[in-house]
Amino acid sequence: MTTLTVRKTILLPGFLCALLAAGFTRAQTRASVWDGVYSAEQAGRGALVFGQVCAACHGEDLRGDSNSPGLIGISFMFLWEGRSLGELFTSIKSEMPPMNPNSLPSESYLDILTYIMKVNDFPAGEDRLRSEFEQLDQILITPKP
Ligand code: HEC
Repeated sequence: MTTLTVRKTILLPGFLCALLAAGFTRAQTRASVWDGVYSAEQAGRGALVFGQVCAACHGEDLRGDSNSPGLIGISFMFLWEGRSLGELFTSIKSEMPPMNPNSLPSESYLDILTYIMKVNDFPAGEDRLRSEFEQLDQILITPKP
């Protein structure tokens, strides 16, 4: 055995363990929109605010119109698949409504976010969604498992 092969045989198992450990931690901390991460009550509040502030452009049914993009179904997933709720939350809060971004309380933006989730058939759960960015950032928008 050359020194090189010896080094490889020692290093490789360590490397594999590190890889496995990384994969494991990620599986543990990351959640998806299919894990019931918001409450039905929250989405109900979001529906009201959405109706007042967003529906004029995006439609009561979230299908949008010729000027405003739809926030539902394929058009929604096309843009948001693989990204996190944190990114979606930040982009809504910092850009919507276009003439007056960041004009609602954070909690209202969060409620609206859960309403958009509800209309996209992501299931509700026991607990409400919370706005801590680190947590929102861990929840991924993924296709139905
Ligand atoms: C005056 C019309 C108008 C209002 C009111 C409005 N939007 Fe929009 N929205 C748009 C337009 C136009 C775009 C696309 C251009 C852009 O991203 O700036 C957009 C983009 C978006 C996007 C990104 C869509 C995508 O997938 O890229 C989201 C999400 C969104 N709006 C949510 C909301 C929410 C939530 C509200 C209410 C708080 C809201 N909008 C209010 C017109 C509007």
